[in-house]
Amino acid sequence: MTDSWAAFGADLHIEPVGAGLRSGLMNALREAVRTGRLTPGTRLPSSRTLAADLGIARNTVADAYAELVAEGWLTARQGSGTRVARRAAAGRSVGAAGPGARTRTVRRRPAHDLMPGSPDLSSFPRAEWLKASRRALAAAPDAAFGYDDPRGRVELRNALADYLSRARGVYADPERIVVCSGLVHGLTLMGKVLRRHGVRGAAVESYGLDIHWNLLAEAGLRTPCIPVDALGARTGALRETTGVGAVLLTPAHQFPTGVPLHPDRRAEAVDWARSSGGIVLEDDYDGEFRYDRQPVGALQGLDPERVVYLGTASKSLAPGLRLAWMVLPEVLVEEVCDAKGGFDRMSGALDQLTLAEFIASGAYDRHVRAMRLRYRRRRDQLVEALAERAPDFRVSGIAAGLHAVLELPDGTEQTVVQGATWQGLALERLSRFRHQDTEPGRDGLVIGYGTPSESGWAGALDALCRVLP
Ligand SMILES: Cc1ncc(COP(=O)(O)O)c(C=O)c1O
Repeated sequence: MTDSWAAFGADLHIEPVGAGLRSGLMNALREAVRTGRLTPGTRLPSSRTLAADLGIARNTVADAYAELVAEGWLTARQGSGTRVARRAAAGRSVGAAGPGARTRTVRRRPAHDLMPGSPDLSSFPRAEWLKASRRALAAAPDAAFGYDDPRGRVELRNALADYLSRARGVYADPERIVVCSGLVHGLTLMGKVLRRHGVRGAAVESYGLDIHWNLLAEAGLRTPCIPVDALGARTGALRETTGVGAVLLTPAHQFPTGVPLHPDRRAEAVDWARSSGGIVLEDDYDGEFRYDRQPVGALQGLDPERVVYLGTASKSLAPGLRLAWMVLPEVLVEEVCDAKGGFDRMSGALDQLTLAEFIASGAYDRHVRAMRLRYRRRRDQLVEALAERAPDFRVSGIAAGLHAVLELPDGTEQTVVQGATWQGLALERLSRFRHQDTEPGRDGLVIGYGTPSESGWAGALDALCRVLP
C-alpha cells in the first residue's frame, strides 16, 4: 500500500459540502485550499484511496479532481500525482467557495515596531539553542516523554535554582520551583490558589498590564490599585487597602514607568505581608536587563515564605517559548501543583530540557550579556536622539529593561500615536497601562526599543523622531 493517504504524511479531514457527492467534494477541496489547510504543492491522495476513505465511487473522486485541474486549483502530472496548484494560494478570493467560506484575519505588520513587550526576536540564539536541544534530547531519560512531575523537569528546576540564586539573589530551592507556560500561566495558578485560601482581593500597581489584572479578576479576586510614583509602588498604602491578601508588584523595573522599587518600599511590602499574612507576587519580567549598574536583586530574597517570585524567558529569550517559572513559599508548592492538575500538562519536556542545558552550559548568561550590550546601545541612541529632537520632553525609566517612557505635552498622546500609525510606526500610549481607578496622569509614550530587529532599529528611531510633536 504505497499510494495511501498516510504514506504522504498529510492527514486531511475532508467532508463533502452541499448537495451532490462530486460537487460537494469539489467545494470541500476548494475550501481547504482557499483557507490554507491544503497548501500549494501538497500531494493529494490517489482517487482510489480518497474514494475508499470517503466510501464513495472512485470515478466520483477522479471526476472532481479532473474538474479542479481544469479550474486551476489542482495540477495532475504523470508520476507525481495530483497536487494543489502553486498559484492556488490561500486567501485567493473565489465566489465558488460557496456559502460558509471563512475569511482569514491577516494582521498587518507595521513598517516600524516600537511596541513594548517584546525582545528583538531576530536575535534569538538559534544555533546555540539547537546545540542545547540536541544535547538535551540525547541525554533525556525515557521518563521525560511521559506525564511528569507537575513542578516541571528536575533538570530545569536545578538549572534555574543555580541561576536565580547567582544572578537574581533569589532563595531558590529546586523543590519549590514550578515551571509554567508563561508568567500569565503562573498568575492564573496563583489566582486559583489565593481564592482557595479565601483571599478576596489582590492589590495591583496603578500602572501595569491589564491582562494580568484580568487573570486575577477571572479567578474571583478584586484588584484595587496602589499608586505608583517616582519611587515605585507606594507599598505603604497596602495597610489602608482593605480586603486584600496579596499584591502584584514589578520591583526590579516597574512596568511600564520603569522605576525600581525604593528599598524602603520593598521593606514595607514585606512587612505588610508578614503582619497581615499576605502574599507578594513579584513579577521579575526583565530583571536581567539593567545597564548602568548591577541588576537590582529580587525582593523574594527578603522573605521567601511570603513572596512568590515569578520569572520568564519571554524577555531574555523569546515569548514564543512560553517558558516561565515560579519560586514558591514552601507551604504553597503542593497547592500550586494541584491547581496545575497533578501533572505538567502545559510546558513541553523537550523545551524544558533544552532550556536547562542552555542555562547549565553558560549559553544563557552569554546571550543575556550580549543582549544587554545591544539594548544599552539602543537605549543610549534613543536618549541621544530624543535630547536632540525633543529636548523639552522628559524621558524616564531608562536605567533598565527594553522600553522607556517619553512624556508628552498634555492632550497630545492620542494624536501622536494616531499619526505614528498612519506612518507605519507602532507605538503604545502610556494611558493604555493606567488602572481604571487611578487619576488621569501625564500623557506619554511607552517606547519598546528592544522590539525591532537590529536592521530595523535605525529606521524605527528615525520614524519616531519624525512623528513627535
Ligand atoms: C510586566 C510584564 N510581566 C510579564 C511579562 C511576560 O509574560 P509572559 O511570561 O506570560 O510572556 C511581560 C511581557 O510583556 C510584561 O510586560
